[in-house]
Amino acid sequence: MNQCNASLSTAEESKFSDSILILDFGSQFTQLIARRVRECGVYCEIWPYNASLEKIKSFAPNGIILSGSPASVLDANAPKLKKEVFDLEIPFLGICYGQQIMCQMFGGKVESHHHREFGSAEIKIEQESKFFPESWKDGTTHEVWMSHGDRVVAIPSDFKTLAASEGAPFAVIWNEKRRFYAVQFHPEVVHTPDGAVLLRNFALNISGCTGKWSMEVFRDAEIKRIQDKVGENARVICGLSGGVDSAVAAKLIYEAIGDRLTCIFVDTGLLREGEAENVTRLFRDDFHIPLIHCQAEKRFLSALEGGRDPETKRKTIGKLFIDIFEEEAKKIGDVDFLAQGTLYPDVIESVSLVGGNEVTIKSHHNVGGLPERMNLRLLEPLRDLFKDEVRLLGRELGLSDAYVGRHPFPGPGLAIRIPGNVTSEKLSLLRKVDVIFLEEIRKAGLYNKIWQAFSVLLPVKTVGVMGDARTYDQACALRAVTSSDGMTARIYPFEISFLERVAGRIINEVRGINRVTYDITSKPPGTIEWE
Ligand code: XMP
Repeated sequence: MNQCNASLSTAEESKFSDSILILDFGSQFTQLIARRVRECGVYCEIWPYNASLEKIKSFAPNGIILSGSPASVLDANAPKLKKEVFDLEIPFLGICYGQQIMCQMFGGKVESHHHREFGSAEIKIEQESKFFPESWKDGTTHEVWMSHGDRVVAIPSDFKTLAASEGAPFAVIWNEKRRFYAVQFHPEVVHTPDGAVLLRNFALNISGCTGKWSMEVFRDAEIKRIQDKVGENARVICGLSGGVDSAVAAKLIYEAIGDRLTCIFVDTGLLREGEAENVTRLFRDDFHIPLIHCQAEKRFLSALEGGRDPETKRKTIGKLFIDIFEEEAKKIGDVDFLAQGTLYPDVIESVSLVGGNEVTIKSHHNVGGLPERMNLRLLEPLRDLFKDEVRLLGRELGLSDAYVGRHPFPGPGLAIRIPGNVTSEKLSLLRKVDVIFLEEIRKAGLYNKIWQAFSVLLPVKTVGVMGDARTYDQACALRAVTSSDGMTARIYPFEISFLERVAGRIINEVRGINRVTYDITSKPPGTIEWE
């Protein structure tokens, strides 16, 4: 582990009075399990399946969930759980691979099935249970979502069957004495309509969590933690980007340490219309947080001059941003901490199974090298939260719905929405197009249904007619996608009449644009941004 990763390891003691621990075997749905558990007011963390027993004991979870996995328990090198973990005398819930490993380790039998069961299935209840929703009475059938190749064909002698399906005779099993539950299907996905209730019942009824974790509880605990970490005299700087995460982090830290926080807003000149003014008005005028607004548009434009290659443009912007941030920080004088809006998905140590066997642990982080370079300690007050939780926390801290509900905006800003070289004229043209597109989206009540909507200025001139005159102006593209995390995305299916209206307004109101296209590429194969 490098130095950066070492600092990412999850705190060993549970930060709240009760919690669930998820041991991850590499399933693509592991984060969904965590989100469902947190939605019931229970704090939970995701750790790799091979976390040490000592560490688990000091975290002291009320219950443990074993995730699914792309691996097969039948493979010699498959990830295994240490048997001692099962002796913690707390409830366990095994999901898919988690069920199979539980069965295999306690004397049941898992077989490779001749065909993979994927999609909806019906399970029939054989015995009622406090794990089940009220409506799951004896003999009733319920829809669940399966995705498995192997299946359990014999359960350990001290387990009983609670529900069965055609493809999975042991769809739900339990061991009453040890409070172990295991399911073949995936309760964490929306295609299992009652899945969230099952996870809630496991966390509350079975593991005894109180369900009282909320953003209010989080805010109070985190403020205390920031105060303890920063101490009575140290000073903190925080870069504001105009986005939600840095704004929420800054407001939280300000509540903890007041004026010992200084925010630095490096205005790259690559932001959207009115954005820089919004940031300064909100932070300096409304919240009274000390703020340095560094206007650096000229420096960014001159560094970008003539550059056309997307990666070079990104690197140029990133490097200059760090240079300027560092210059501004030095002017403040003695600073001890650098605050960042890092989120939980960036720090989870995820398990990755390559080729079915090889196990690697990877940590993601988007620090960008600043803390090491500036020799500052890191303060990451949002590192335990998912994006939707950051939005809730922002509301708790008094940020408006409009601010916390904003679409994501990339660090390199409009520069990566202007393929080719970036000039101040092009930026100004793009801003005008973007304002119209977003205005129409809001007017149609679609803003919150869309993950991200923006415009791209194309490096192409096309011929048109306006009135009686021929035009030869630039073309632009509109892009709007739905997504849950930005990793995959689908285009937003606007009505054609909506797109026609937007195109009409853009061409009539923005001099210099005479053609509008709509980007209909999903991700993959496209990325959301154009560069
Ligand atoms: P792509 O274009 O990779 O984008 O499909 C996925 C999400 O990430 C955002 N994005 C960035 N965010 N710095 C950021 O802070 C960046 O350099 C960057 N590049 C892309 C993008 O807007 C989308 O939400």
